Amino acid sequence: MSESILNTSFRLPCGVEIPNRIAKSALSEAIAEPNGRPSEALFNLYDRWGKGGAGILFTGNVMVDQAHLVNANVMIAEEDNFLEEYTTLTDKAQAHGAHLWMQINHPGRQTPSYLDKAPVSPSDVGMPSKLYIQPRPLEESEIVDLIERYANAALVAKKAGMKGAQIHGAHGYLVSQFLSPLTNLRTDKWGGSLENRARFVLEIYSNMREKVGPDFPLGIKINSADFQRGAFTEEESMEVIQMLDDAGMDLIEVSGGTYERAAMVGTTQKESTKKREAYFMDFIVKVRSKIKSPLMLTGGFRTADTMSKAISSGELDFIGLGRPFCLFPDVAKDLISGKMTDCTVPDLLTGVDKIDMTGMLQTPWNAFQLARMGKGMDPDPELDLWMVYEKITGRKRPV
Ligand SMILES: Cc1cc2nc3c(=O)[nH]c(=O)nc-3n(C[C@H](O)[C@H](O)[C@H](O)COP(=O)(O)O)c2cc1C
Repeated sequence: MSESILNTSFRLPCGVEIPNRIAKSALSEAIAEPNGRPSEALFNLYDRWGKGGAGILFTGNVMVDQAHLVNANVMIAEEDNFLEEYTTLTDKAQAHGAHLWMQINHPGRQTPSYLDKAPVSPSDVGMPSKLYIQPRPLEESEIVDLIERYANAALVAKKAGMKGAQIHGAHGYLVSQFLSPLTNLRTDKWGGSLENRARFVLEIYSNMREKVGPDFPLGIKINSADFQRGAFTEEESMEVIQMLDDAGMDLIEVSGGTYERAAMVGTTQKESTKKREAYFMDFIVKVRSKIKSPLMLTGGFRTADTMSKAISSGELDFIGLGRPFCLFPDVAKDLISGKMTDCTVPDLLTGVDKIDMTGMLQTPWNAFQLARMGKGMDPDPELDLWMVYEKITGRKRPV
């Protein structure tokens, strides 16, 4: 049998060689200690994933400020706190050849009210839900401080021995909020024109680059679009991607949507798009014709055949997988060896439209699987969806 194209190595512009083309996209684990310290459960999980054959393992989003968290039990990297634990995590993840990259994030306004009573954002535009508190606009000095914090987290990643860092610029979090004209109404140099809205992410990149040096891989995950009226569009995303390309990004990962419209997990995609697998394929093909940075696409890939074709066509360089890694920790190894040809995961539908349309159970159901692996157990494909619903909402299932 001929060698799978998914198993070919790839050299990034900075010179680092990635062993193969399958990456575990970032998956918020929610099993750190309450103060953000990487826990035994995380070591177990990354030990498991480290054996699973991925070329790159992106960590779940790591927070730059303990005062502002996306969810409880998320990892935090401020200054050199927890360097020893990050080093252990890295050793587990990289023991079998995978490269561990830290995904770095700040939630901005997208933080639940039980966690953050004083959220910040570019402007005071709140989330359209009672679960979130109205944010206040960041002071300019705070913006400068945050840029430093993102860069410091990348330095923690490097000091811990990780092989790269990724800015979370997608899914409606702080970088996304700066990029979107719906959430960024500023009239100073951080808002208004696209160039001004992109200043935050470009400054983060250049500050990171200065701190970690030219040879350390830096990437970004960015939305092809937010899929909301008046928000960040495909045309704008294309322009920002060109700016990031010019700045020298080593890897650009394309996703889409926000937690108001969860396109990243396919909730808003047409059945025909889901069948074609990769949700944002049309966009990445356009991106490829305009930029030179390596590209990764995440969202919807399920069959080895489609993945191999996408790589052979030259339209992208890395396949990002999210949910399959929650159920099949060896998915990369098994797709490459041919043991697995399809890594389709359950649709997770309750039959209640109001719940299913939001995709609200996708993240917690999958996070339960990560918690199981953190305890040394196998994932459970039969895990009861209503149990997850009742746990996260505190409400009984609707009858
Ligand atoms: C449990 C869970 C946690 C996630 N956490 C993150 C995260 O921390 N950062 C991120 O960029 N995306 C996150 N995502 C989105 C995934 O990285 C990915 O974009 C999405 O699941 C689509 O890919 P898939 O169709 O292969 O699952 C998460 C998804 C799930 C299911």
